[in-house]
Amino acid sequence: MGRVALVTGGTRGIGAAISIAFKQQGYRVAANYAGNDEKAKAFEAETGIAVFKWDVSDYQACAAGVANVEAAIGPVEVLVNNAGITRDAMFHKMTPEQWNEVIGTNLTGLFNMTHLVWTGMRDRNFGRIINISSINGQKGQMGQANYSAAKAGDLGFTKALAQEGAAKGITVNAVCPGYIGTEMVRAIPEKVLNERIIPQIPVGRLGEPEEIARCVSFLASDDAGFITGSTISANGGQFFV
Ligand SMILES: NC(=O)c1ccc[n+]([C@@H]2O[C@H](COP(=O)([O-])OP(=O)(O)OC[C@H]3O[C@@H](n4cnc5c(N)ncnc54)[C@H](OP(=O)(O)O)[C@@H]3O)[C@@H](O)[C@H]2O)c1
Repeated sequence: MGRVALVTGGTRGIGAAISIAFKQQGYRVAANYAGNDEKAKAFEAETGIAVFKWDVSDYQACAAGVANVEAAIGPVEVLVNNAGITRDAMFHKMTPEQWNEVIGTNLTGLFNMTHLVWTGMRDRNFGRIINISSINGQKGQMGQANYSAAKAGDLGFTKALAQEGAAKGITVNAVCPGYIGTEMVRAIPEKVLNERIIPQIPVGRLGEPEEIARCVSFLASDDAGFITGSTISANGGQFFV
């Protein structure tokens, strides 16, 4: 039987592409989501991938959610921390709620989810943690002090935990997508996309969710066992670290 993979925010956008890629490779897959039941049910019906609803920013909800997933398909061997939100505002207008929501989902969510599968991975001497950060965590982005801080935090978390997991067969890596054509990015006004964002991408287009899913598939594979604490930038040449 294939390994068990849990993808947070796995029902839409990049997460959906990751869930589908894992299923195609023979993993047993669980896709978590936060509240969009309609999209999640449609995704489940279309793909046959089981969906589980909880909020990754809530530790108790994560504990119950992980227990449900493990009862349904077995201990989590691959965790993809993909769930993420934006609440953009210039800093002088940013509210504490906008700050806290983004930090809660995009950074604390990684603590919550990883903490709940970590002991099992250590006990079994195998694990793969893959964190979806962002180009804007690497370079910073105007109007995204909250998001850039959370996504940069994800990279520090990845590097620290990689050192702790290494002797226990657990790799911890990050992927930093550039601008990918998901609902999150399509919500940006078309004029801003066409006149300000796409011209900054040397390959001249948005990325596809499947291009990120292929990076994640590789990091989850046995072939990537010597890679830990690293970051794959997949951004069409927009930013080099
Ligand atoms: N799109 C890009 O260009 C881009 C670029 C760089 C990095 N990223 C990162 O890539 C990841 C995926 O982005 P995307 O564009 O695919 O997003 P998306 O299309 O908006 O989908 C987000 C997914 O995350 C889930 N989610 C949101 N908050 C959650 C929470 N608190 N608990 C559980 N699930 C939650 C959503 O569930 P519901 O459907 O229930 O809302 C949905 O399944 C994010 O971490 C994002 O920051 C995206």
